[in-house]
Amino acid sequence: QLDLDLSDTGIKIQPTMYGVFFEDINFAADGGLYAEMVKNRSFEFLLPKMGWKEPNSNTHSHNTDSGFLNPMQYSGENTNHRFARVTVKGSKYALINEGYRGMGIKKDAKYNLTLDAKKVSGDISKINIQLIDTLQNVLGETYIIPEKNTWKNYEAQLTASKTEAHAQLKLTFEGKGEIDLDMISLFPEDTWKGRKKGLRKDLVQLLSDLNPGFLRFPGGCIVEGRTLERRYQWKKTVGDIEDREVLVNRWNTEFMHKFTPDYYQSFGIGFFEYFQLFEDLGAEPLPILSCGIACQFNTGELVSMKDLDPYVQDALDLIEFANGDTSTKWGKLRTEMGHPKPFNLKYIGIGNEQWGEVYIERYKVFHEAIKAKYPDIIIVSGSGPFPDGDQFEYGWEQLKQMNAEIVDEHYYKSPEWFLENAGRYDSYDRKGPKVFAGEYAAHPKEVEDGPKENNWQGALAEAAFMTGLERNADVVTLTSYAPLMAHIDAFQWAPDLIWFNNLEAYGTVNYQVQKLFSTNAGTDVLSITENGKPLIGQHQIYASVVKDVHSNELIFKIVNSGTNHQNIIISPKGNKLSGEGSISTLQSDDLSTNNDFDNPEKIVLKTNQIKISDGKIQIELKPQSLNLVKIKI
Ligand code: AHR
Repeated sequence: QLDLDLSDTGIKIQPTMYGVFFEDINFAADGGLYAEMVKNRSFEFLLPKMGWKEPNSNTHSHNTDSGFLNPMQYSGENTNHRFARVTVKGSKYALINEGYRGMGIKKDAKYNLTLDAKKVSGDISKINIQLIDTLQNVLGETYIIPEKNTWKNYEAQLTASKTEAHAQLKLTFEGKGEIDLDMISLFPEDTWKGRKKGLRKDLVQLLSDLNPGFLRFPGGCIVEGRTLERRYQWKKTVGDIEDREVLVNRWNTEFMHKFTPDYYQSFGIGFFEYFQLFEDLGAEPLPILSCGIACQFNTGELVSMKDLDPYVQDALDLIEFANGDTSTKWGKLRTEMGHPKPFNLKYIGIGNEQWGEVYIERYKVFHEAIKAKYPDIIIVSGSGPFPDGDQFEYGWEQLKQMNAEIVDEHYYKSPEWFLENAGRYDSYDRKGPKVFAGEYAAHPKEVEDGPKENNWQGALAEAAFMTGLERNADVVTLTSYAPLMAHIDAFQWAPDLIWFNNLEAYGTVNYQVQKLFSTNAGTDVLSITENGKPLIGQHQIYASVVKDVHSNELIFKIVNSGTNHQNIIISPKGNKLSGEGSISTLQSDDLSTNNDFDNPEKIVLKTNQIKISDGKIQIELKPQSLNLVKIKI
């Protein structure tokens, strides 16, 4: 018997309550969301020919070490350092790009190729361009005729004759002579919103289906970098794509599972593209910037206080890039990139997973500078783990004293921890900063010789915990699972919310849980209790309830984490309910169940109607289930 109180608690669900956190980890951007199919298109990786093969040549080509483009407009640096000089002596010379663990092509779909070329000597009369499979079968072809001895951009289109997950791009040359090549690029024509050189449609669709309230980006640890020099610098990610300086990804490493030495950031998705994506999704942008401390997993390199200014300036300039009018330097760049209207940035995050005196000292400088110039911008600060590596609460007290607005907490814990902590925020200080649960995921035990897996055990525990987040929406105003995406052949971290290969993608069981909460967020928190106490595991039940003033509904999220069916009765205090409602359930008797590529809908919502009798809601909860109950009021 559960008691429902229909009176107003005054607690609002913020539109930002359920969001997503995007980081280029697990090939999420390059090799994933960013639909570019050519790896190392500009020969800028530390090994310039990484990703490229020349099967018919030892002597016929080499890379050259001087840039061809102008110094980057905004940094004044020459960022596109290299190109390939191809010397063709015989007729069979070929240059093959392997893609990101291959290239996914679909039968009858069109692919747009662009490249920059400059004839140097002799006469290379034609470049044949083919999509091939691993057995060298041709799956689509076209050609370009190089014309000039100055740099020129060429375009061609291929149509795939077959679906293939591991295609490659092959260039063969007719004639003899030397030619310079750069920015060899291939994109599907069918991208999200049909944008040229845009984003992978199926992946953005999965994000859009979550109806996210915000997008936190671009990381995670990649914000910090392994060293300060390799931190994420947003200014190097805007303007023309060929001028964006390629950077070794901080996740170019052996971590948790696979070694990905070919993991670089092309910044084809840069800050402009991120802002554009938020706009498409109707979500608030939440950029996180370096606070001058490199990634704690590695050096923890620190910028000295006297050298902090450029970091602070980056934050101020980002606000100008997002919100400034066209008369400002950065607002002008946004306009030139095609978006005269401001992006209306409201939040900015300073530092990721940083804490202690060194963080607080630096954070203060950011806080003062941002508030002085942009008093309405809400600043998200970070907290860290205690020295024993436990909860992300370290630094809270100091941040409270500074009247910090929102503090970012992270937890990757066992499913048991999530169940035990469903009441975590019940006792948080209502007068202190708000909480951003910016990264969390239940990590079931590692399988032998493999990474931790997504499964229903983890997802169900997250659901139980999320009822606690929702019940405490007066303290917790933003939440996001992490990490968001992973390529099945190139990941460093698991579990993840969405898995993809070169052709397909699916939402995990954890994704289904997130979707249930985020698409049924409601507007006002009500109270559901047993004997006056919130449901945080009594009889293995966890529950939250909200009202939606737009749809006039009561929306309950109820978890039964036990292995038995349970009948519950929900009685509204001093009121009677009437009519009909629905119960939608995510459930599995097997805690190891997950969705996968072959069966992406093993666990999806199943809906049934329920009748209300005697003014009360009577429902049966299946074992190990998350239930969404909706009643019209
Ligand atoms: O989500 C994966 C990593 O976990 C993030 O980059 C970092 O913030 C955290 O340690």
